[in-house]
Amino acid sequence: MLLAIENILTHDGLANARGLFAKARFLDGRVTAGEAAAKVKNNMQLPANAAETQVLTGIVHDALHCNPLFVSAALPKVVCPPLFNRYISGMDFGLHVDNAVRVGSVTFRTDIAGTLFLSEPEEYEGGELVIEDTYGVQSIKLAAGSLVLYPSGSLHRVEPVTGGHRDVAVFWVQSMIRDTAQRCLLFQLDATIQSLRARAPESPEIVSLLATYHNLLRMWADI
Ligand code: NI
Repeated sequence: MLLAIENILTHDGLANARGLFAKARFLDGRVTAGEAAAKVKNNMQLPANAAETQVLTGIVHDALHCNPLFVSAALPKVVCPPLFNRYISGMDFGLHVDNAVRVGSVTFRTDIAGTLFLSEPEEYEGGELVIEDTYGVQSIKLAAGSLVLYPSGSLHRVEPVTGGHRDVAVFWVQSMIRDTAQRCLLFQLDATIQSLRARAPESPEIVSLLATYHNLLRMWADI
């Protein structure tokens, strides 16, 4: 499942993040790539221990955990500290799959990948995130402050940037629900319950649907 979530950052959160990017010093992005991905990764990245990285991580994590759509879709167990990347003209990231397990201060399985766009689409040329999804090839370029989530097992690439610069935060989630199809079913069921609640809050079926949701979650959750 590929899901775009618009405006996950508030206006102030986005302005803060962009201000931090403007004054930060970037390193070669290959330091955090796996062996195969490092051969095709060509971007810049904020060092994990930079002061800006700590503040940016807080901004992104707060935004994610406060967003009901993200929580419903990802059912997160671990959300890693994001990587903060900048692509300037001539940079790209060739076709690759992300490492299944990331080892660091927290070691976790990557079930879901996220890209949070911090540049507006008109601020750079090229730079589309291209994902080879179950339903075909998707080319993604979202407004600043918006997020795309996709299964980490997908092959993906970033098209070459040919003008301007593309700033993004990328991160991975270990979900309580390892299986993408099961996670997708729970997301659809939750969306249906929320819709019914909004339209007919007194419906007696809501209780039994909620019981089904929670009992599936109980059956499948890995915590
Ligand atoms: Ni990747």
